[in-house]
Amino acid sequence: MNDPPRVLITAGPTHEPIDQVRFIANRSSGRMGLALVEATRDRSLVTTLLLGPGPTPSGLDHSQVALRRFRTTADLQALLGEEWPRHDILFMAAAVADFRPKSAVTANKLRRTARGLSLQLEPTPDLLADLTRSRRSDQFIVGFALEPESDLLGKARAKLRQKGIDAIVANPLETMHSDLIDGVLITADGTTHRAADGMVSKRVFAAWLLDTVVHLAARRDSPETHD
Ligand code: CTP
Repeated sequence: MNDPPRVLITAGPTHEPIDQVRFIANRSSGRMGLALVEATRDRSLVTTLLLGPGPTPSGLDHSQVALRRFRTTADLQALLGEEWPRHDILFMAAAVADFRPKSAVTANKLRRTARGLSLQLEPTPDLLADLTRSRRSDQFIVGFALEPESDLLGKARAKLRQKGIDAIVANPLETMHSDLIDGVLITADGTTHRAADGMVSKRVFAAWLLDTVVHLAARRDSPETHD
């Protein structure tokens, strides 16, 4: 990866349909992914954003960022299959649903009945774990772990190992909807990297994260390069 890296960013929630009008969703705002897009734009890096449901963010520079939309985990899986081979670094900031309704979506709308409704859910495929099995050795994958502060680093380390990715951002659940973050980047060798001592804005964190990951990915490709 000697040329400037091509960056793939996923952001936002998935919507898993129950019928034609209802879905299972989560409260992800997509803010971290969009802050990363701003940072890649500021560094003129070729970027593709895979963005979940919601309004198209204003101020997105379409001449520099290729935008593709997904709704379900299955849509995102298909887009990753197409896009990941043409990119070098993946920031998997999307909040992918863990479960989705098992039965096929009914044609129209489920009706209210006196006996209620039971939904059977099935696990979604682990997209990151699948990507790590089929990637090129020069590609660098960063996941995100949104976890309660009480066991943030422990849970993030477990996910890093389990998914076989290169690095994970441990992101405290408590700051999910805040403009501030006290995130930690953990790399596969167990090293922790921090943007600052304490909270920073998500914008500052994203810029630091991008620079750190670009540096780590380049250094891994050319191990003889020293800091
Ligand atoms: N992720 C994924 N595929 C899924 C679920 C999550 O690729 N089906 C990715 C997310 O985009 C994120 C990372 O895995 O980068 C961690 O997501 P998280 O929901 O915290 O972890 P899970 O794998 O869902 O594990 P758990 O249910 O134990 O929290």
